[in-house]
Amino acid sequence: MTIEPGTTPFQVDLRRHLREREEDRDLTRVICELATASRYIIYSIRTGELGVAGTSNLYGEAQLKLDVLADRIIRKRMTHTGVIASIASEEDAEVRVIDPEGKYSLVFDPLDGSSLVDVNLAVGTIVGIYRGADVLKPGREMVAALYILYGPRCTLVYTTGNGTHEFAMNALMEYTLVQEDLKIADRASMYAPGGTRNKYTPAVEAFVSHLESRGSKLRYSGGFVPDINQVLIKGQGMFLYPHLTDLPQGKLRLLYELNPMAFLVEQAGGAASNGRQRILDILPEGIDHRQPVFIGSKSDVAKIEELIRTLES
Ligand code: AHG
Ligand code: MN
Ligand code: MN
Repeated sequence: MTIEPGTTPFQVDLRRHLREREEDRDLTRVICELATASRYIIYSIRTGELGVAGTSNLYGEAQLKLDVLADRIIRKRMTHTGVIASIASEEDAEVRVIDPEGKYSLVFDPLDGSSLVDVNLAVGTIVGIYRGADVLKPGREMVAALYILYGPRCTLVYTTGNGTHEFAMNALMEYTLVQEDLKIADRASMYAPGGTRNKYTPAVEAFVSHLESRGSKLRYSGGFVPDINQVLIKGQGMFLYPHLTDLPQGKLRLLYELNPMAFLVEQAGGAASNGRQRILDILPEGIDHRQPVFIGSKSDVAKIEELIRTLES
């Protein structure tokens, strides 16, 4: 259902949307608490200090105050739900057990692209939700995934395995439905190439040349959340952060960056691969497991997999 411009948008808010689709009440509570957490994160982005927290995460990356603040805000609200078993965050070196009997567990990147905040570019929160306490399972075991995009408008996109749906935050800071069942076309006319071109392998170089020869436009913001959101909302596109000659595993983390986005994109009819296999089938080797990623229009994901089989096997 898409709200036609100029019509009065249904005030179908997030909670009503989840209830009308008879989602589990505890899962609805977790998703709505994440939506509430985003209000505080937006406030801290727009008003808070952008300084460095003086600490670093397990990747050795200096944590910005906003990274740590966003992590704390989400942790606090998730603990408050009373249904969370464990939490794995980009900002923490290990999985934290909240309640071993908890119904759901969370993997999340509290503030992805945080280095873009000081240049006023869009950043986001990425979340994956599993049943039970074990989060080191293939992404196909997730029961829900969502991201919140802090851009000129604040939007939330979620799936529980029944399509991918977009909401926008209104003046009352509630999320109301913009469109249901987003769809990604088979072929991309836009691409977001991560990494540095001089480090591309032959198959990746051939793939990008193939996209360019078709007239595909380069659209890369440096933020995973806005770059994936562009593919979902434009209904076509390819995002790649490939294996590089000096970074064979790529840069992005499987658990809380690639898996949630792969779930959302697959639910919109797209595909997500590490170049050789489906992202959602990969067994995480740890919370810091990195993987190359090619995600978006299905026929183009198949194309890069074919090029890798042909040129890099
Ligand atoms: P994070 O800020 O959580 O570390 O993630 C940043 C990621 C992702 O947002 C983006 O796709 C990628 O870094 C961009 O990397 P480059 O700056 O190397 O292009
Ligand atoms: Mn990130
Ligand atoms: Mn981050």
